[in-house]
Amino acid sequence: MTKPQAISVTAPVKENLPKEKFDELEGFINNLETTKGSLIEILHKAQNIFGYLPRDIQLFVARKLGIPGAEVFGVVSFYSYFTTKPRGKHTISVCMGTACFVRGSDKIIERLKEKLGIESNEITEDGLFTLKDVRCIGACGLAPVVMIDDKVYGRVKEEELDDILNSYRDREVQQ
Ligand code: FES
Repeated sequence: MTKPQAISVTAPVKENLPKEKFDELEGFINNLETTKGSLIEILHKAQNIFGYLPRDIQLFVARKLGIPGAEVFGVVSFYSYFTTKPRGKHTISVCMGTACFVRGSDKIIERLKEKLGIESNEITEDGLFTLKDVRCIGACGLAPVVMIDDKVYGRVKEEELDDILNSYRDREVQQ
């Protein structure tokens, strides 16, 4: 069994990567029974804590586990769940699969880019939305499909986009 190293690894402290979060991640790793076979679990935890997995966090995990950085990079890039870029509070995924494309998803995503002022894989200035184009999500009968987090919007029309976006903005105001 490989016991986690109880040593403190110097964490790179950046404006958006606060030391307390590195401390929390380090505490989690130190409390594991073993780090053997725990890389994915640790990366999940790291993503929960930081919201994403930039290079500095990947290197921190690699140093803590005493494994090559390339091993961590390999796992992060293999699983689409992991992201190396910050995400907005809500992820808008526009399906660009064939059924959705022929029903106008290209226009939907262009309108969303205009309305949000961002390109794909970017985050809005208020941090509320990330926009992504994705492949078929298996709801072709509802094409064109937009997903926001886990909620599926089917047969989406350009005219409906403002209402959809505003429903998320309104929730922010109410919270
Ligand atoms: S092509 Fe869009 S859900 Fe299948």
